Amino acid sequence: MTIRSVIQGVGSYLPAKNVTNAELAKKVDTSDEWIVDRSGIRERHVAAEGEKTSDLAIAAVTKALAAAGRDGKDIDLFIVATTTPDHTFPATAARVQAALGRPGVPSFDVQAVCSGFVYGLAVADNFIKAGQVKSAVVVGAEAMTRLLDWNDRTTCVLFGDGAGAVVLGAETGTGVTTDRGILSTHLHSDGNYYDMLYCDGGPSTTQTSGYIRMKGKEVFRHAVVNLAEAVQEALTANKISIDAVDWLVPHQANKRILDGTAHKLGLDPAKVIVTVDRHANTSAASIPLALAAGVADGRIKPGNLVLMEAMGGGFTWGSVLVRM
Ligand code: UT7
Repeated sequence: MTIRSVIQGVGSYLPAKNVTNAELAKKVDTSDEWIVDRSGIRERHVAAEGEKTSDLAIAAVTKALAAAGRDGKDIDLFIVATTTPDHTFPATAARVQAALGRPGVPSFDVQAVCSGFVYGLAVADNFIKAGQVKSAVVVGAEAMTRLLDWNDRTTCVLFGDGAGAVVLGAETGTGVTTDRGILSTHLHSDGNYYDMLYCDGGPSTTQTSGYIRMKGKEVFRHAVVNLAEAVQEALTANKISIDAVDWLVPHQANKRILDGTAHKLGLDPAKVIVTVDRHANTSAASIPLALAAGVADGRIKPGNLVLMEAMGGGFTWGSVLVRM
C-alpha cells in the first residue's frame, strides 16, 4: 500500500485588467512584434490597485476547493508559493488560511521563485506521504508587476500577475505508475547563479522590495538544459518513456523555451500546454494557471499522465509527475 497525493481540484484566477503588447508599447520602447517573436507573450494581467497576492490566491483556492467538492475548513495544510507576499511577514498563506481554512492547521509560504509551485507540491506531497496531513492546498500566487522597473524594457514586458491552486487529498495507491496522484517529485538548486535572475531589493539589503534584474540570454540557455534534464530525471525515476506522458505542463516563461525543451526531448509540441501568450510569466502561478486551463478546456482528463517542470531564480528547478 502506498499513500498518494491525488489532485482533487484545480482552480485559477487572473486579475480583471489585461494589458496587451500594443498598450505596453505606448509607454515603453518596445513593439508587439518584438515581444511575440522573442517570448510568445501577447498580453498580461495586472492586479488592480489594492489587489494583493493573497486576494489572487484566495480567488484561485476558492475555485479549486469548489472543483474538488471540498470545504477549506477540512483542509489540513495551506502552502502558498510566492515571490511577492503581501508583506515581508507573516506568510501570505496565513491570510489564505484565515479566509478559507480552519484555525490551527499549518500554513506557510514557499519561496523558490518560478519553481515555487513545484517546490510547494513536493513539500505537500511529503507531508501527505509521511501521514502528517490528509489533505493540502498548494497555491502559486504572484503580483509580479509590482516588482517591475518600467524603465527596463528587457524585463518589464515579460511578467504578469495571477494565481493557480490545487487541492490534494491522500488516497491509497499500489505503488505503480498507474496510480492516481503524485508519482514523483525532483527538486534542484544552484545558488552559484544567484545574480543571473534576482530582485535588487530586500529587507536585509535595501529595505525596499526592489526590481527584477535578469541576464535573459544566460537564463534562457540554462533553462532549456536544466528543464530537459529535469524531465529526463522524472522519466528515468518512473521507468517510463516520454511517449507515456500525455501532457507537459511547463513553467510559462517564454514560448521559445517551451519549444526548445519539447524539441530536445523529442516530445510532440501538441502535448505541451501553452498559456504564456495569455498571461506572460507569472512565476510560481504559471504552472497551476496552465494546468487549470488544460483541465477547463477538457484537454487534461482524469487518468492522464502530466509532467510539470519549472526553472527560476536561484537557480532553482525541478519536476512533478502526476496522474490526474
Ligand atoms: O521565469 C524564470 C526564467 N526566465 C526565463 O526563462 C527568461 C529567459 N530569457 C528569455 O526569455 C529571453 O532571453 C528574453 C525574452 C528575455 C530576451 O530574448 P533574447 O532573444 O535573449 O534577446 P536579447 O536579450 O539578446 O536582446 C536582443 C535585442 C537587444 O538589442 P541589441 O543589443 O541586439 O541591439 C535588446 O536591447 O533586443 C533588444 N530588446 C528589446 N527590443 C524591443 C530587449 N528587450 C526589448 C524589448 N523590446 N522589450
